[in-house]
Amino acid sequence: MTGKESLRTNLRATLRALVGDAHVLTEGDLTAYEQDWRKRERGRALAVVRPGNTEEVAAVVKACAAAGVSLVPQGGNTGMVVGSIPDDTGTQVLLSLQRLNRIRSVDTANLTVTVEAGCVLQTLQEACEKEGFLFPLSLAAEGSCTIGGNLATNAGGTQVVRYGNTRELCLGLEVVTAQGEIWSGLTGLRKDNTGYDLRHLFIGSEGTLGVITAATLRIYPLPAAQLTAYAAVPSLDAAVALLGLAHQHLNSGLTGFEVMGDFALSLVRKHFPQQNVPFGADTASAPHAAAEGEAAPYCVVLENSDHESEDHARAQFERLLEAAMEQGCVLDAVVAQTQAQARALWHIRESIPLAQAQEGLNIKHDISIAVSRIPAFVTETDALLQQYLPGVRLVNYGHLGDGNLHYNVQAPEGADAEAFLVEQEGPINTIVYEVVERYNGSISAEHGIGSLKREKLAKHKSPVALGAMRAIKHALDPHNLLNPGRVLSKE
Ligand code: FAD
Ligand code: MLT
Ligand code: ZN
Repeated sequence: MTGKESLRTNLRATLRALVGDAHVLTEGDLTAYEQDWRKRERGRALAVVRPGNTEEVAAVVKACAAAGVSLVPQGGNTGMVVGSIPDDTGTQVLLSLQRLNRIRSVDTANLTVTVEAGCVLQTLQEACEKEGFLFPLSLAAEGSCTIGGNLATNAGGTQVVRYGNTRELCLGLEVVTAQGEIWSGLTGLRKDNTGYDLRHLFIGSEGTLGVITAATLRIYPLPAAQLTAYAAVPSLDAAVALLGLAHQHLNSGLTGFEVMGDFALSLVRKHFPQQNVPFGADTASAPHAAAEGEAAPYCVVLENSDHESEDHARAQFERLLEAAMEQGCVLDAVVAQTQAQARALWHIRESIPLAQAQEGLNIKHDISIAVSRIPAFVTETDALLQQYLPGVRLVNYGHLGDGNLHYNVQAPEGADAEAFLVEQEGPINTIVYEVVERYNGSISAEHGIGSLKREKLAKHKSPVALGAMRAIKHALDPHNLLNPGRVLSKE
C-alpha cells in the first residue's frame, strides 16, 4: 500500500480525530447532503464532515489533500445547478460549512458585518435589522441558504436592481485554500489596490478555488419605509416601459422589480390555492385587468424604499402608477397598505419556483439579456419553442430590473415530466442558448454553472476566457481537489 492509499483508507478516522466523531457522518439518511434541491441528482459521499471553525476546515482540507481525496463544499444545499453534492462514486468528502454560523462582529461606523460562511442568510438579515441596519441580499431560499453559498455562487435575488449581486456586498473574505492554508482578508476596506483582488476570484467560483469560511459584508441604514406594489401589465414591452418610469420616479428608491408571466402565476394559483393572486382570469379583484375572463399576460412586483417617510414613498408610488396608467403600460395595480400585505405580494413571486417544482421536473434557464432587448428575445424564443414542441409550457418570470429572466420550460400538459427532461433538455437548451448568444446574453445570470451547465459553458464562453479560467484553477488547485468537475471539466 502506498502512503497515499493508506492515508485514504484511514481518512474517516483521521477526520473524526480532527472534528470529533459526532461531526463525521457516514451512516444513516444523508439525503439532505447528497441530493440536490431540484432532485436532479443524488450523490454518495465518503463522509459528510462538519467542522466547527476555520482551523478545523483547514485541517480537514489538509488531510484530504494529503490523501488525494477531493472535497465538495456545501452550505444550505439550495443551489440550482448541481454544484453542492458529491458525485456518485462514494470517494468524495462532503464538507458542510453549516456549523461555522457565528456573526463575528458588527461595525456600525464602517457599515460592515463580519459573519461566518455557514450563517443562514435570514439569520443575518434579522440580526442586522435588530441593530437598525439592512443586509439587503434577499432570495426565496433565504431561510436555508448560507452566506458562504451566496458568495460562492455570487447570488442575485430580488434587490440587485439597487444593491447589486452578493459580490457588490462583499468587502473581505477569509478562505481556506486547496493546500489547507488560511487567507485572512477580512479587512472591511472600501479601497485597496494592492495587486490582484483575490476576493473577486473566490466570489462566484462555486467551491472550485477555495473554501470560504467568513466574510465582511456591507450593511445599510434601514429605510424609513418599504412599500410594495403589484401591477398588471399588458405586455413585456409595457413591463420594460414601467421599469424605465420607475427608475425616473423612484431613482435609488427602486429596490425591487420582478416580472411574472401569467402561466407562472397560474402554477402558484394551482399549487398554493390559499394565496390570493391578483389579476388572474379567476380573480374578481381586477375589473380592468383585461377583457372579462382573461388574465393579464404579465404582472410586476415593485418595491420603493424611502429614507424620508411612508407618506413620501406612497406619494411617489402614486405618481409613478398614474403616469404608467396614462401611458398604457399598467392596466391595474395595488399598493400594499400593511407589511403583511407587502409580504403576501412578495410571497406570490417567491412561490413560483416551489409551484414549478410541484408541477414536476422542469428545464430551468437563468439568462441575462440587456433589459431593452428582453421583449424581442421572449417573442422570438417563444415562437421557436412552440414550433419545435407544440404545447410546451413556458414558465417565464424573474428579475426584470436586472435583465435576468428565469425562462423555464415545463412539459406539455399530461406529458411524463421525467421522460420530457431526458428527451428534451438537450434540444431545448440548444434552442434557447443559441438565441441568448445572438442577443449577446449570458447563459447563467445568478445561479452559476455547477455540473448542469458545464458543457454549455464550454460551448458559449470564449476560448480565451476559458483558457484563463483553467490557468487560474490550475494555479490555485493544481491537484483538482476542490469541487472537481464543477464549472470546468475535470481534465
Ligand atoms: P449550496 O447550494 O450549498 O452551494 C452552492 C455552490 O456554492 C456549490 O458549488 C458549493 O460547492 C459552493 N459553496 C457553498 N458554500 C461554500 C463555501 N463556504 N465555500 C466555497 N464554496 C461553497 N439564487 C439566486 O441567485 N437568486 C435567487 O433569487 C434565488 N432564489 C432561489 C429560490 C429558491 C426557492 C431556491 C431553492 C434557490 C434559489 N436560488 C437563488 C439558488 C440558491 O439559493 C443560491 O445559489 C444560494 O446562493 C446557494 O446558497 P447555499 O448555501 O444553499 O449553497
Ligand atoms: C428565483 O428567482 O425565484 C430563483 O432564482 C429560483 C428559480 O429560478 O427557481
Ligand atoms: Zn432568480
